[in-house]
Amino acid sequence: MTAITLAPGLVYYPDYLDRQAQEQLLQSLREITRAAPLYTPRMPRTGKPFSVRMTNCGRLGWVSDIDGYRYQPMHPETGEPWPVMPDQVMQAWTAMSGYPHPPDACLINFYEPSARMGLHQDKDEEEFDAPVVSLSLGDTALFRYGGLERKDPTRSIRLKSGDAIVFGGPARLIHHGIDRLIPGSSDLLPQGGRLNLTLRKVEKPL
Ligand code: SIN
Ligand code: FE2
Repeated sequence: MTAITLAPGLVYYPDYLDRQAQEQLLQSLREITRAAPLYTPRMPRTGKPFSVRMTNCGRLGWVSDIDGYRYQPMHPETGEPWPVMPDQVMQAWTAMSGYPHPPDACLINFYEPSARMGLHQDKDEEEFDAPVVSLSLGDTALFRYGGLERKDPTRSIRLKSGDAIVFGGPARLIHHGIDRLIPGSSDLLPQGGRLNLTLRKVEKPL
């Protein structure tokens, strides 16, 4: 496993999942989205829809609607508990997080070819000692990252299918986002687009 440190606490693992592992993860995600369909989150206050669709697996899921951002144990539309996190996802956390407790949440983002995600921080968790572990499938994305302040300078890296990136330690609260996809860059998803999984420890361990 190749690890490239992009900044203190920000580690990139190119080709973390080989093609077979990507196909296996995609199959798990198909089962998850059958039970917990992708839905369109909305911005707090304004209710403006995200261009990304989302679902979750694990005990908790991250949701956003007119009332705000939060973690909750059930799907906002079906009211059902989130599906269990696949073993492959748990293994990725064990391999890359360097954190001694399992993750509580795995946010699944689906980007259609025109979707993007503005620069933001992941700060709705209580536990910042755990990193965020991110896995990408499908079309390559231009991932932008900066610093702790929104005005800090940014750089970008291409995240392709099978790549992982971990932000922890001094990088745990960096600003990051997706500028755009590179359509047609992967044949993993038959209709194109991109799936991103982010694994998080939400609650402080006991
Ligand atoms: C996120 O920040 O929630 C997603 C990042 C990505 O899609 O790579
Ligand atoms: Fe994020």
